[in-house]
Amino acid sequence: MTVDAHHRASLTPAIEFRHVSIRFEDVPVLDDVSFVVPPGEMRIILGLVGSGKSTILRLAVGLLKPDEGQIFIEGREITAMPESELFQLRKQIGVVFQEDALFTSLPVWENVGYRLLEQGEDPEVVREKVRRVLRLIDMEYAIDMMPAELSGGMSRRTAVARALVGNPRIALYDSPCAGLDPVTERKILRLIMQLRDLNGTTSLYVTQKMDEVRYLCSGMYERTPDGKVRFRKESEGFCLYNTKILLLSRGRIVIEAPDELFWKSSLPVVREFLV
Ligand SMILES: Nc1ncnc2c1ncn2[C@@H]1O[C@H](COP(=O)(O)OP(=O)(O)O)[C@@H](O)[C@H]1O
Ligand SMILES: [Mg+2]
Repeated sequence: MTVDAHHRASLTPAIEFRHVSIRFEDVPVLDDVSFVVPPGEMRIILGLVGSGKSTILRLAVGLLKPDEGQIFIEGREITAMPESELFQLRKQIGVVFQEDALFTSLPVWENVGYRLLEQGEDPEVVREKVRRVLRLIDMEYAIDMMPAELSGGMSRRTAVARALVGNPRIALYDSPCAGLDPVTERKILRLIMQLRDLNGTTSLYVTQKMDEVRYLCSGMYERTPDGKVRFRKESEGFCLYNTKILLLSRGRIVIEAPDELFWKSSLPVVREFLV
């Protein structure tokens, strides 16, 4: 562990699940789930459809309460928080839900800038912030379009832009690349990785697709001394240290590991994903 990584590991986790269980109509969905996401790091939750991934994200923003256990965001227990405080907290977390849920009567820029506009920011300033995020995912030309005019991939990208526009310290992604073409998928993944590596955005990324996991773990962005951004591939002599994979199966986290250990795992549930 580098000194830097050691220092960060000693900080209060950005997200912590402590012995969390939840059941729906007597069916256990999460069973004693515990994990932490240190500030600035990424955890990828991999699991089949129905394994409880979206439930974890809904719990993390307090939209659901666990039956047992505690959840902490930046050291504050959200499981014991009144709705008014949760409301404030949610403003600081960017979330890409599984459904894009855009406001159909608002153009792209107002959808993306919604939270900032609601907080009373100057619309001209918001529009410029929105423009910058849209540019990163090649959507600037769509700034004044209405949701009905967008393709599925464009709606997805709009939802991603909306989650990231205020530069949140914490970002939660629920299968943000589901149903996207491979080119758009890579654009979104690269943006998410740049936020992780260059901005130190804490991220929880949920997916059922191994190729997304491989891409997110393929390397790391860094800024060179002359201010340029470059991508370093994971290879000999360099190990991705800010990202771990958690496999969710039958309501439990069956393995939590950095990618190089995950690929080598002999657990049958892991092998099923790797073949
Ligand atoms: N509000 C709910 N009421 C009843 N069952 C639910 C509810 N939300 C989720 N479930 C069930 O919990 C399980 C996990 O759901 P979910 O977290 O959406 O899985 P994933 O996102 O991994 O596909 C599924 O069996 C789903 O049907
Ligand atoms: Mg889901």
